[in-house]
Amino acid sequence: MASIVVRPAARVHGRLTVPGDKSISHRYALLAALADGSSTISGYGPGADCAATLACLAALGVVIEGPHEAPDEHHDQRVVTIQGRGIGGLAPPAATLDAGNSGTTLRLLSGVLAGHPFDSVITGDRSLRQRPMRRIIEPLSRMGANLSADHDRPPIVIRGAALRGIDFTPPVASAQVKTAVLLAGLLATGETTVRERHPTRDHTERAFPVFGVEATRHAGAITVQGGRRLRGTSLTVPGDASSAAFWAAAAAALPHSDVTLDDVGLNPTRIGYLSLLERIGAQVELLGTTETGGEPRGSLRVRHGGNARLDLGPDDIPGIIDELPVLAALATHGGELRVTGAGELRHKESDRITALAAGLRGLGGRVDEMEDGFHVFGDRRLQGGTADAAGDHRLAMAFAIAALGGTHPSEIHNAEAVDISYPGFFDVLASISQG
Ligand code: S3P
Repeated sequence: MASIVVRPAARVHGRLTVPGDKSISHRYALLAALADGSSTISGYGPGADCAATLACLAALGVVIEGPHEAPDEHHDQRVVTIQGRGIGGLAPPAATLDAGNSGTTLRLLSGVLAGHPFDSVITGDRSLRQRPMRRIIEPLSRMGANLSADHDRPPIVIRGAALRGIDFTPPVASAQVKTAVLLAGLLATGETTVRERHPTRDHTERAFPVFGVEATRHAGAITVQGGRRLRGTSLTVPGDASSAAFWAAAAAALPHSDVTLDDVGLNPTRIGYLSLLERIGAQVELLGTTETGGEPRGSLRVRHGGNARLDLGPDDIPGIIDELPVLAALATHGGELRVTGAGELRHKESDRITALAAGLRGLGGRVDEMEDGFHVFGDRRLQGGTADAAGDHRLAMAFAIAALGGTHPSEIHNAEAVDISYPGFFDVLASISQG
């Protein structure tokens, strides 16, 4: 297993692009597979999770070309072409489908397969086989499919059926659950409505009209009509806002830092962390914002300004769920962060409360762990040390951002986990670190 040494840095400086958005890539690939005709997706996410979605679709009879590199105004874009099989047209798989580490692949694909009249099984790696599935099994079963998972954990066995639309309010704030039900809704008879108590990322809703799907959005709810055709299209995936968050946090952490990230997704449901950076004192600028496929995108410039205390509660969490590890890392640079109402973190790629607290402590941090959150005290400079990413890409990257503030170098174990969403992360870190 790869360990990597991260050296302290005085500041970070540079202008760069980040990989294509992971959440959006999964959704575009799945919708393209259900569409009539061919779709071309530029900027497809380079990580192992996005590759897992393509591999599963290929095993369901979808013809996929690429990803291959094509030059673009900003950088080489990874382009994927998908020949859609039409709504309900996926072929029965010959073997168990493997979602790898990707909860989004497994949960979203379960929604799609629930509406196909054949049996399938989806499994994943050791981490994914520990993640809860009842949250999708319950609504998809109510729609008429038969799904089961021993002890609520993958493998998940899906006996697809003719589905009927439902009106559903997920008990946990989860964009994966919302999307699984909405994708099943495309294959169901009648209307499917998902209501949210707390808004979660809305990429699926934004992608529907691009594929010609009529969807009605109304106060905290979205409704789709089942049984309609989707049409293939051309799409461009913006840079991943959650990947950008690591560089934004590094720039906010270290005095005299100045980082510009070009062509980043600026979907309001994903950039909650930017207002938190501003609240602690950082200077945040959005430049040249445009929109493609209903997704806002633009350049993001972040400079250090301060590192004030933050106290976050349950209402704050859904909008920053994937950024909590890096916000915790940022707090080790002289700030303070108290988070409650974030029990969902225990069900991510790792137990992101225990593993986060352990890793930051290993680097010399002072962290209290609560059942539903954590408290980071940045009142002493990290000495540097060792942290175990525990197979979790976001923890590997968060520990690296914390380690920049050490008095000595740090070692991150299992650092290869970054390949899940951000291959090349450590090269970029080296290229923007100074002093
Ligand atoms: C995702 C939703 C979130 C997020 C995950 C990606 C998505 O998970 O943590 O990284 O693409 O829908 P939950 O739906 O479990 O909150």
